[in-house]
Amino acid sequence: NNIAVVIPAAGSGRRMQSTIPKQYLTIKNKTVLEHTVQLLADIEQVTKIILVVSAQDSYIAQYQHHFPEKVTIVTGGQERVNSVLAGLHALNANEHNWVMVHDAARPCVLKSDILKLIDTCIGNQEGGILATPVRDTMKREQPQNDTLIPVVGKTEDRSGLWHALTPQMFMTNQLITAIEHGLLENKLITDEASAIELLQLPVRLIEADESNIKITRKSDLALAEFFLNRAI
Ligand code: CTP
Ligand code: MG
Repeated sequence: NNIAVVIPAAGSGRRMQSTIPKQYLTIKNKTVLEHTVQLLADIEQVTKIILVVSAQDSYIAQYQHHFPEKVTIVTGGQERVNSVLAGLHALNANEHNWVMVHDAARPCVLKSDILKLIDTCIGNQEGGILATPVRDTMKREQPQNDTLIPVVGKTEDRSGLWHALTPQMFMTNQLITAIEHGLLENKLITDEASAIELLQLPVRLIEADESNIKITRKSDLALAEFFLNRAI
């Protein structure tokens, strides 16, 4: 199998409130981005990695020479979906008919979970995503209420609700078509699966270890370090 990977890393990390974008913060002597690239490069079936960075990125130059040969760097866009599409367009879909999209901000994903995702998608010839079941009771707020503090409208049934993580794996041509279609129709595309769902194509949920956090806020750095220190 020749699987490609697109790593969107063109965000500014606004919620991290750090001067350095979060993908360039250091954990255990390596940047978050280096951890993520290394992790995916270590998977033998992955023969191409498209790393998507911002046009304003002034950090990538000091790291790119140390990346494995299979890494190619391209420029991203305004929203995550635009960055992912830019990465997909850099692929030759005949050479790489399957692609995994994985956030730069998720350096703690287990290799065993990625292998499980690959096996499931190729085994069933269907797309899939890593996901974890929701653990808290979920409240939907009342749509319109004029109070300062939101009011509960209803409780959603938690059973059957999942958190969508990455990697998300699809057939390359299908994912490009789905995203382009979604953008044209002005749909909200917050992950790859949401674009595929618009075409009513199946997406398998592959349960992942809870260590696969997206580094978002300051406290996530300590948590990520803890997970990266775990020997599994
Ligand atoms: N990303 C991207 N292009 C964008 C926005 C985000 O490639 N225009 C990437 C981020 O670099 C990150 C991943 O998509 O690896 C997930 O996005 P998120 O966690 O939201 O990162 P940021 O957008 O950088 O953070 P924030 O939303 O707090 O600004
Ligand atoms: Mg964001």
